[in-house]
Amino acid sequence: MFTMQEIKSHYLFTDEDAEQLKSLLPIAEADKEQLIEEFYDHLLGIPETAQFLQDDQRLYRLKKNHADWFVGMFAGTYDNLYLHRLQRIGHVHVQIGLNAHFVNAAMQVVRRFSVGMIRENFTDREERRMKTQAVEKIIDINLDIITASYIEEELKKVFISHRLESKLIHATERFTYGLNLVLVLALAGVSISIVGLFGWDIFHIFRGDMEKGILSALGSLLILWMMIELMDNEIKTLKGGRFNILVFIGVIIVAMIREILISTLRHDALETQAFLAGTLLILGVVYFLVAKSQQFRTTP
Ligand code: HEM
Repeated sequence: MFTMQEIKSHYLFTDEDAEQLKSLLPIAEADKEQLIEEFYDHLLGIPETAQFLQDDQRLYRLKKNHADWFVGMFAGTYDNLYLHRLQRIGHVHVQIGLNAHFVNAAMQVVRRFSVGMIRENFTDREERRMKTQAVEKIIDINLDIITASYIEEELKKVFISHRLESKLIHATERFTYGLNLVLVLALAGVSISIVGLFGWDIFHIFRGDMEKGILSALGSLLILWMMIELMDNEIKTLKGGRFNILVFIGVIIVAMIREILISTLRHDALETQAFLAGTLLILGVVYFLVAKSQQFRTTP
């Protein structure tokens, strides 16, 4: 944010300009009614601005506001108080929901009126030029400060929505992280049960049920191996790595192999064994296809 002193220096607005404007004060005071007439003719002619000017009682106060602002441009004092007043004008128009475009267009009416006012009242070319230059500068300064409020308001909106978005994303990230943590713990629990299952299979071997024991133990070991893969995958995801769907298909394949081992031991019907073998074949094809597509994605 700039101070009024800085703004004036950026526009090369000098004390001489301030004096020129002050000399116009009596004329501005005398012509303000005419300006208001032209200003309101313009505003009432545009549906988007006319909608703010429907209430007659309010209109009287509004016209006074706009007239006072016009005369204020020729007061000769342009300090930080003047800057705050202009900033307030900007905010008031933002708050009523008026598009900045209409403020710019209305300012054009004021500019045309003021230049005409000087032309009518002064014949000397140099005097006209100096006064017109001073008026142009103060109108540009007014427009600059008033429309800056619009930009400020827009930035505020963007900033708030950006803050909200990043908070939401952060909260969701924490939530998924928590869920992944629960998953790893659950996987660890299941792995311990599988170790128990493996122990039970070994127990079978010692009880003399060699074939069943060895095949079941082999199945349990396969599952344990896949559990390790699953946990490894989860831990990688927790550390920010990419989720690998292949591991999940692998787990199902291993579970199927174990089921086939047990099924042979149980001497299940041929159809059941054929069904299991068929499912295993399909899973194998799916695994192959997913592995191929992942290869394509990683190698350009
Ligand atoms: C040259 C551009 C304009 C200037 C310098 C200007 C100036 C002002 C000023 C000084 C006020 C009083 C602010 C206060 O309460 O402190 C005001 C209020 C208002 N102006 Fe403007 N105005 C401009 C353009 C417009 C336009 C284009 C409209 C469109 C209809 C408009 C409608 C209003 C309304 C409705 C209010 C009253 C807001 C409220 O208090 O609820 N103005 N304006």
